[in-house]
Amino acid sequence: MKAIAVKPGSPGSVHLREIASPSVDDVADGRGVLIKVLKVGVDATDREINDALYGAAPPGDDFLVLGHEVFGQVVAVGASVSHVQKDDYVTCTVRRPGQSIYDRIGRSDITSEEVYYERGINLRHGYLTEYFVDDAEFVVRVPVGLKHLHVLVEPMSCAAKAIDQAFEAQKRLQVWEPRRAFVLGAGQIGLLATLVLRLRGLEVYTLARKAKPCLKAEIAEGLQATYVSTRETSLEQLAEQVGKPDIIVEATGNSGVAFEAMNVLGHNGVLVWTSITGGKELVEVPSDHLNLHWVLGNKMLIGSVNANRRHFEMGIADMALGEATYPGVVERLLTNPVEGLDNYAEMMRLLVEEPDALKVFVNVADA
Ligand code: BGC
Ligand code: ZN
Repeated sequence: MKAIAVKPGSPGSVHLREIASPSVDDVADGRGVLIKVLKVGVDATDREINDALYGAAPPGDDFLVLGHEVFGQVVAVGASVSHVQKDDYVTCTVRRPGQSIYDRIGRSDITSEEVYYERGINLRHGYLTEYFVDDAEFVVRVPVGLKHLHVLVEPMSCAAKAIDQAFEAQKRLQVWEPRRAFVLGAGQIGLLATLVLRLRGLEVYTLARKAKPCLKAEIAEGLQATYVSTRETSLEQLAEQVGKPDIIVEATGNSGVAFEAMNVLGHNGVLVWTSITGGKELVEVPSDHLNLHWVLGNKMLIGSVNANRRHFEMGIADMALGEATYPGVVERLLTNPVEGLDNYAEMMRLLVEEPDALKVFVNVADA
Protein backbone atom coordinates (compact mmCIF):
# COMPACT_ATOMS: atom_id res chain seq x y z
CA MET A 1 0.00 0.00 0.00
CA LYS A 2 1.00 3.63 -0.50
CA ALA A 3 2.51 5.89 2.15
CA ILE A 4 3.87 9.45 2.27
CA ALA A 5 7.31 9.39 3.89
CA VAL A 6 10.49 11.41 4.42
CA LYS A 7 14.14 10.50 4.93
CA PRO A 8 14.82 12.18 8.29
CA GLY A 9 17.99 14.24 8.08
CA SER A 10 17.60 14.98 4.34
CA PRO A 11 15.80 18.27 3.74
CA GLY A 12 12.94 18.17 1.21
CA SER A 13 12.84 14.36 1.02
CA VAL A 14 9.04 13.93 1.07
CA HIS A 15 8.05 11.10 -1.29
CA LEU A 16 5.51 8.38 -1.97
CA ARG A 17 6.54 4.77 -1.27
CA GLU A 18 5.14 1.26 -0.93
CA ILE A 19 4.95 -0.26 2.54
CA ALA A 20 3.57 -3.59 3.79
CA SER A 21 -0.14 -3.83 4.69
CA PRO A 22 -0.89 -4.38 8.40
CA SER A 23 -3.11 -7.03 9.94
CA VAL A 24 -5.16 -6.90 13.13
CA ASP A 25 -3.00 -9.72 14.54
CA ASP A 26 0.16 -7.59 14.38
CA VAL A 27 -0.77 -6.48 17.92
CA ALA A 28 -0.54 -9.22 20.57
CA ASP A 29 -3.24 -10.54 22.92
CA GLY A 30 -6.18 -9.69 20.67
CA ARG A 31 -5.71 -5.97 21.39
CA GLY A 32 -5.27 -4.87 17.77
CA VAL A 33 -7.53 -2.43 15.96
CA LEU A 34 -7.16 -2.33 12.17
CA ILE A 35 -8.08 1.10 10.84
CA LYS A 36 -8.76 2.36 7.33
CA VAL A 37 -7.37 5.86 6.97
CA LEU A 38 -9.94 8.36 5.70
CA LYS A 39 -8.23 11.70 6.28
CA VAL A 40 -4.93 12.92 7.68
CA GLY A 41 -4.13 16.49 8.68
CA VAL A 42 -0.66 18.00 8.46
CA ASP A 43 0.84 20.95 10.33
CA ALA A 44 4.05 22.88 10.98
CA THR A 45 5.57 19.80 12.62
CA ASP A 46 5.37 17.93 9.29
CA ARG A 47 6.96 20.92 7.56
CA GLU A 48 9.82 20.97 10.07
CA ILE A 49 10.33 17.22 9.66
CA ASN A 50 10.56 17.63 5.88
CA ASP A 51 13.02 20.50 6.47
CA ALA A 52 15.08 18.00 8.53
CA LEU A 53 14.82 20.23 11.61
CA TYR A 54 12.97 17.63 13.62
CA GLY A 55 11.91 13.96 13.71
CA ALA A 56 13.57 10.56 13.42
CA ALA A 57 12.95 7.25 11.61
CA PRO A 58 11.96 4.11 13.55
CA PRO A 59 14.93 1.88 14.47
CA GLY A 60 15.95 -0.27 11.49
CA ASP A 61 14.30 1.98 8.85
CA ASP A 62 15.81 4.89 6.94
CA PHE A 63 12.41 6.48 6.29
CA LEU A 64 9.59 7.85 8.41
CA VAL A 65 5.96 7.65 7.32
CA LEU A 66 4.54 11.12 8.07
CA GLY A 67 1.17 12.06 9.54
CA HIS A 68 0.03 12.34 13.16
CA GLU A 69 -3.51 13.75 12.83
CA VAL A 70 -5.65 10.84 11.70
CA PHE A 71 -9.33 10.28 11.14
CA GLY A 72 -10.27 6.75 10.15
CA GLN A 73 -12.76 3.93 10.35
CA VAL A 74 -12.38 0.61 12.14
CA VAL A 75 -12.11 -2.37 9.79
CA ALA A 76 -11.51 -5.16 12.33
CA VAL A 77 -10.82 -5.56 16.05
CA GLY A 78 -9.01 -8.25 18.03
CA ALA A 79 -10.86 -10.54 20.46
CA SER A 80 -10.10 -8.47 23.58
CA VAL A 81 -11.22 -5.11 22.19
CA SER A 82 -14.54 -3.77 23.42
CA HIS A 83 -14.54 0.05 23.38
CA VAL A 84 -14.55 0.33 19.59
CA GLN A 85 -16.10 -1.84 16.93
CA LYS A 86 -16.13 -2.29 13.18
CA ASP A 87 -17.23 0.83 11.26
CA ASP A 88 -16.71 3.21 14.21
CA TYR A 89 -15.02 6.49 13.38
CA VAL A 90 -11.81 6.87 15.33
CA THR A 91 -8.65 8.83 15.84
CA CYS A 92 -5.46 7.76 17.62
CA THR A 93 -3.18 9.36 20.15
CA VAL A 94 0.30 10.28 18.89
CA ARG A 95 2.76 9.34 21.66
CA ARG A 96 3.63 5.79 22.55
CA PRO A 97 4.98 4.84 25.97
CA GLY A 98 8.60 4.65 27.03
CA GLN A 99 9.65 3.29 30.44
CA SER A 100 9.19 6.13 32.94
CA ILE A 101 6.62 6.05 35.73
CA TYR A 102 4.48 8.50 33.73
CA ASP A 103 4.57 6.26 30.68
CA ARG A 104 3.47 3.36 32.81
CA ILE A 105 0.35 5.16 34.09
CA GLY A 106 -0.84 6.20 30.61
CA ARG A 107 0.82 9.65 30.78
CA SER A 108 3.46 9.36 28.08
CA ASP A 109 2.53 12.98 27.20
CA ILE A 110 4.55 13.93 30.30
CA THR A 111 7.26 11.30 30.05
CA SER A 112 10.36 12.13 32.07
CA GLU A 113 12.61 10.45 29.50
CA GLU A 114 14.60 12.46 26.96
CA VAL A 115 13.55 10.08 24.19
CA TYR A 116 9.89 10.10 23.22
CA TYR A 117 8.07 8.02 20.64
CA GLU A 118 5.52 9.76 18.44
CA ARG A 119 3.73 8.28 15.45
CA GLY A 120 4.59 10.22 12.30
CA ILE A 121 7.14 12.37 14.15
CA ASN A 122 9.76 10.57 16.20
CA LEU A 123 10.87 6.92 15.98
CA ARG A 124 7.42 5.54 14.98
CA HIS A 125 5.72 5.54 11.59
CA GLY A 126 2.68 7.77 11.12
CA TYR A 127 -0.72 7.60 9.53
CA LEU A 128 -0.25 8.99 5.98
CA THR A 129 -0.98 5.62 4.45
CA GLU A 130 -4.00 3.47 3.61
CA TYR A 131 -4.39 1.22 6.67
CA PHE A 132 -2.67 0.90 10.03
CA VAL A 133 -3.01 -1.20 13.16
CA ASP A 134 -2.59 -0.07 16.74
CA ASP A 135 -3.21 -1.22 20.29
CA ALA A 136 -6.78 -0.48 21.39
CA GLU A 137 -5.35 1.58 24.26
CA PHE A 138 -4.45 4.34 21.81
CA VAL A 139 -7.62 4.32 19.71
CA VAL A 140 -10.20 6.98 20.53
CA ARG A 141 -13.76 6.88 19.22
CA VAL A 142 -15.02 9.99 17.42
CA PRO A 143 -18.81 10.45 17.61
CA VAL A 144 -20.48 10.33 14.21
CA GLY A 145 -21.91 13.82 14.84
CA LEU A 146 -18.36 15.21 14.80
CA LYS A 147 -17.34 13.41 11.59
CA HIS A 148 -17.22 16.74 9.75
CA LEU A 149 -14.43 17.98 12.07
CA HIS A 150 -12.32 14.82 11.47
CA VAL A 151 -8.59 15.74 11.56
CA LEU A 152 -9.11 18.58 14.04
CA VAL A 153 -9.47 16.17 16.96
CA GLU A 154 -5.69 15.76 17.43
CA PRO A 155 -4.84 19.50 17.49
CA MET A 156 -7.92 19.97 19.71
CA SER A 157 -6.48 17.42 22.15
CA CYS A 158 -3.29 19.52 22.42
CA ALA A 159 -5.31 22.71 23.05
CA ALA A 160 -7.46 20.89 25.61
CA LYS A 161 -4.38 19.59 27.43
CA ALA A 162 -2.65 22.99 27.49
CA ILE A 163 -5.65 24.66 29.10
CA ASP A 164 -6.39 21.78 31.44
CA GLN A 165 -2.77 21.87 32.64
CA ALA A 166 -3.06 25.60 33.29
CA PHE A 167 -6.22 25.16 35.34
CA GLU A 168 -4.70 22.23 37.24
CA ALA A 169 -1.56 24.24 38.02
CA GLN A 170 -3.60 27.20 39.22
CA LYS A 171 -5.04 25.10 42.03
CA ARG A 172 -1.90 26.37 43.79
CA LEU A 173 -3.86 29.62 44.36
CA GLN A 174 -6.71 27.96 46.33
CA VAL A 175 -9.14 30.23 44.58
CA TRP A 176 -8.65 31.32 40.99
CA GLU A 177 -11.33 33.06 39.01
CA PRO A 178 -9.81 33.84 35.63
CA ARG A 179 -11.75 36.39 33.62
CA ARG A 180 -9.53 37.50 30.78
CA ALA A 181 -7.46 35.39 28.37
CA PHE A 182 -5.05 36.33 25.60
CA VAL A 183 -4.44 33.72 22.93
CA LEU A 184 -1.35 34.49 20.88
CA GLY A 185 -1.58 33.11 17.36
CA ALA A 186 -4.68 32.27 15.34
CA GLY A 187 -3.51 29.05 13.71
CA GLN A 188 -5.28 25.80 14.53
CA ILE A 189 -4.07 25.62 18.15
CA GLY A 190 -4.78 29.30 18.80
CA LEU A 191 -8.31 29.11 17.43
CA LEU A 192 -9.11 25.82 19.17
CA ALA A 193 -7.71 27.23 22.43
CA THR A 194 -9.98 30.24 21.87
CA LEU A 195 -12.94 27.83 21.70
CA VAL A 196 -11.96 25.98 24.89
CA LEU A 197 -11.49 29.22 26.83
CA ARG A 198 -14.77 30.68 25.56
CA LEU A 199 -16.57 27.50 26.65
CA ARG A 200 -15.08 28.08 30.12
CA GLY A 201 -16.68 31.53 30.14
CA LEU A 202 -13.59 33.70 29.72
CA GLU A 203 -13.37 36.99 27.84
CA VAL A 204 -10.92 36.01 25.10
CA TYR A 205 -8.65 38.19 22.94
CA THR A 206 -7.11 36.27 20.06
CA LEU A 207 -4.07 37.99 18.56
CA ALA A 208 -2.42 37.41 15.20
CA ARG A 209 -0.54 39.50 12.68
CA LYS A 210 -3.04 39.47 9.85
CA ALA A 211 -5.29 42.52 9.53
CA LYS A 212 -9.06 42.24 9.28
CA PRO A 213 -11.03 41.26 7.29
CA CYS A 214 -9.70 37.70 7.26
CA LEU A 215 -10.86 34.16 7.99
CA LYS A 216 -8.95 33.94 11.29
CA ALA A 217 -10.80 37.01 12.55
CA GLU A 218 -14.14 35.63 11.34
CA ILE A 219 -13.57 32.35 13.17
CA ALA A 220 -12.43 34.06 16.40
CA GLU A 221 -15.43 36.39 16.25
CA GLY A 222 -17.72 33.44 15.44
CA LEU A 223 -16.58 32.06 18.82
CA GLN A 224 -17.44 35.42 20.40
CA ALA A 225 -13.81 36.28 21.06
CA THR A 226 -12.20 39.60 20.11
CA TYR A 227 -9.71 39.33 17.26
CA VAL A 228 -6.77 41.73 17.48
CA SER A 229 -4.32 42.30 14.64
CA THR A 230 -0.87 42.98 16.10
CA ARG A 231 -0.18 45.16 13.04
CA GLU A 232 -2.64 47.63 14.58
CA THR A 233 -2.42 46.98 18.32
CA SER A 234 0.62 45.54 20.07
CA LEU A 235 0.41 43.08 22.93
CA GLU A 236 1.42 45.82 25.39
CA GLN A 237 -1.14 48.26 23.98
CA LEU A 238 -3.89 45.68 24.26
CA ALA A 239 -2.98 44.98 27.90
CA GLU A 240 -3.14 48.72 28.61
CA GLN A 241 -6.52 49.02 26.93
CA VAL A 242 -8.33 46.00 28.35
CA GLY A 243 -6.21 45.02 31.36
CA LYS A 244 -3.63 42.29 31.88
CA PRO A 245 -4.84 38.74 31.30
CA ASP A 246 -5.17 35.98 33.90
CA ILE A 247 -4.10 33.38 31.36
CA ILE A 248 -2.12 33.54 28.14
CA VAL A 249 -1.91 30.66 25.67
CA GLU A 250 1.05 31.17 23.34
CA ALA A 251 0.68 29.37 20.00
CA THR A 252 2.42 31.53 17.40
CA GLY A 253 5.36 29.24 16.66
CA ASN A 254 7.62 32.22 17.40
CA SER A 255 9.83 31.97 20.49
CA GLY A 256 10.32 35.75 20.60
CA VAL A 257 6.58 36.19 21.12
CA ALA A 258 6.64 33.48 23.81
CA PHE A 259 9.03 35.66 25.86
CA GLU A 260 7.24 38.90 24.97
CA ALA A 261 4.09 37.40 26.48
CA MET A 262 5.86 37.43 29.87
CA ASN A 263 5.61 41.25 29.86
CA VAL A 264 1.82 41.43 29.96
CA LEU A 265 0.62 38.63 32.25
CA GLY A 266 -1.42 39.77 35.27
CA HIS A 267 -0.70 38.97 38.93
CA ASN A 268 -1.19 35.29 39.83
CA GLY A 269 -1.53 34.58 36.12
CA VAL A 270 -0.44 31.57 34.11
CA LEU A 271 1.33 31.56 30.76
CA VAL A 272 1.20 28.37 28.69
CA TRP A 273 3.75 27.83 25.94
CA THR A 274 2.69 25.43 23.19
CA SER A 275 4.90 26.37 20.21
CA ILE A 276 7.40 23.82 18.93
CA THR A 277 10.33 25.87 17.61
CA GLY A 278 12.95 23.70 15.93
CA GLY A 279 15.11 26.69 14.83
CA LYS A 280 17.97 28.60 16.49
CA GLU A 281 16.38 32.02 17.12
CA LEU A 282 18.05 34.33 19.70
CA VAL A 283 16.14 37.18 21.37
CA GLU A 284 17.07 39.73 24.02
CA VAL A 285 14.72 39.97 26.98
CA PRO A 286 14.40 42.58 29.80
CA SER A 287 15.52 40.00 32.33
CA ASP A 288 15.66 42.13 35.51
CA HIS A 289 12.25 43.56 34.81
CA LEU A 290 10.68 40.19 34.05
CA ASN A 291 12.32 38.45 36.96
CA LEU A 292 11.14 41.17 39.35
CA HIS A 293 7.56 41.23 38.14
CA TRP A 294 7.23 37.48 37.93
CA VAL A 295 8.39 37.10 41.51
CA LEU A 296 6.32 39.99 42.85
CA GLY A 297 3.26 38.77 40.92
CA ASN A 298 3.51 35.07 41.78
CA LYS A 299 3.25 34.23 38.08
CA MET A 300 3.57 30.81 36.55
CA LEU A 301 4.91 29.50 33.22
CA ILE A 302 4.09 26.03 31.88
CA GLY A 303 5.16 24.26 28.72
CA SER A 304 2.62 21.83 27.31
CA VAL A 305 3.14 19.25 24.60
CA ASN A 306 1.13 16.40 23.13
CA ALA A 307 -1.99 14.95 24.76
CA ASN A 308 -3.07 11.66 26.26
CA ARG A 309 -6.27 9.74 25.84
CA ARG A 310 -8.13 11.76 28.50
CA HIS A 311 -7.25 15.03 26.71
CA PHE A 312 -8.56 13.59 23.44
CA GLU A 313 -11.81 12.78 25.23
CA MET A 314 -11.95 16.26 26.78
CA GLY A 315 -11.27 17.81 23.38
CA ILE A 316 -14.04 15.75 21.77
CA ALA A 317 -16.49 16.78 24.51
CA ASP A 318 -15.58 20.45 23.98
CA MET A 319 -15.94 20.05 20.21
CA ALA A 320 -19.45 18.72 20.74
CA LEU A 321 -20.28 21.59 23.10
CA GLY A 322 -18.67 23.98 20.62
CA GLU A 323 -20.93 22.72 17.81
CA ALA A 324 -23.96 23.25 20.03
CA THR A 325 -22.83 26.72 21.11
CA TYR A 326 -21.23 28.11 17.93
CA PRO A 327 -22.66 25.92 15.17
CA GLY A 328 -20.67 25.70 11.96
CA VAL A 329 -17.73 27.84 13.12
CA VAL A 330 -14.97 25.29 13.85
CA GLU A 331 -15.30 23.53 10.47
CA ARG A 332 -14.17 26.77 8.81
CA LEU A 333 -10.65 25.86 9.97
CA LEU A 334 -10.59 23.01 7.44
CA THR A 335 -9.37 25.21 4.60
CA ASN A 336 -7.20 23.13 2.26
CA PRO A 337 -8.08 19.57 1.24
CA VAL A 338 -5.66 17.61 -0.95
CA GLU A 339 -7.05 14.69 -2.95
CA GLY A 340 -5.24 11.39 -2.37
CA LEU A 341 -1.80 10.29 -1.14
CA ASP A 342 -0.43 10.73 -4.69
CA ASN A 343 -0.66 14.49 -4.22
CA TYR A 344 2.01 14.61 -1.50
CA ALA A 345 3.91 17.38 -3.30
CA GLU A 346 0.85 19.63 -3.31
CA MET A 347 0.32 18.82 0.39
CA MET A 348 3.85 20.01 1.22
CA ARG A 349 3.57 23.03 -1.11
CA LEU A 350 0.43 24.21 0.69
CA LEU A 351 2.14 23.77 4.09
CA VAL A 352 5.15 25.81 2.99
CA GLU A 353 3.72 28.42 0.67
CA GLU A 354 0.13 29.07 1.66
CA PRO A 355 0.15 31.43 4.62
CA ASP A 356 -3.64 31.47 4.79
CA ALA A 357 -3.99 27.69 4.99
CA LEU A 358 -5.36 27.10 8.47
CA LYS A 359 -5.53 23.35 7.96
CA VAL A 360 -4.10 21.29 5.12
CA PHE A 361 -5.40 17.72 5.07
CA VAL A 362 -5.30 14.75 2.73
CA ASN A 363 -8.50 12.98 1.70
CA VAL A 364 -7.04 9.48 1.64
CA ALA A 365 -10.26 7.46 1.12
CA ASP A 366 -14.03 7.78 1.29
CA ALA A 367 -15.91 6.30 4.23
C1 BGC B 1 1.89 17.18 17.67
C2 BGC B 1 2.02 16.66 19.08
C3 BGC B 1 3.49 16.36 19.36
C4 BGC B 1 4.32 17.60 19.08
C5 BGC B 1 5.80 17.41 19.36
C6 BGC B 1 2.79 18.36 17.46
O1 BGC B 1 2.67 18.81 16.14
O2 BGC B 1 0.56 17.56 17.38
O3 BGC B 1 1.25 15.50 19.24
O4 BGC B 1 3.67 15.94 20.69
O5 BGC B 1 4.13 18.01 17.74
O6 BGC B 1 6.43 16.49 18.53
ZN1 ZN C 1 0.71 18.47 15.33
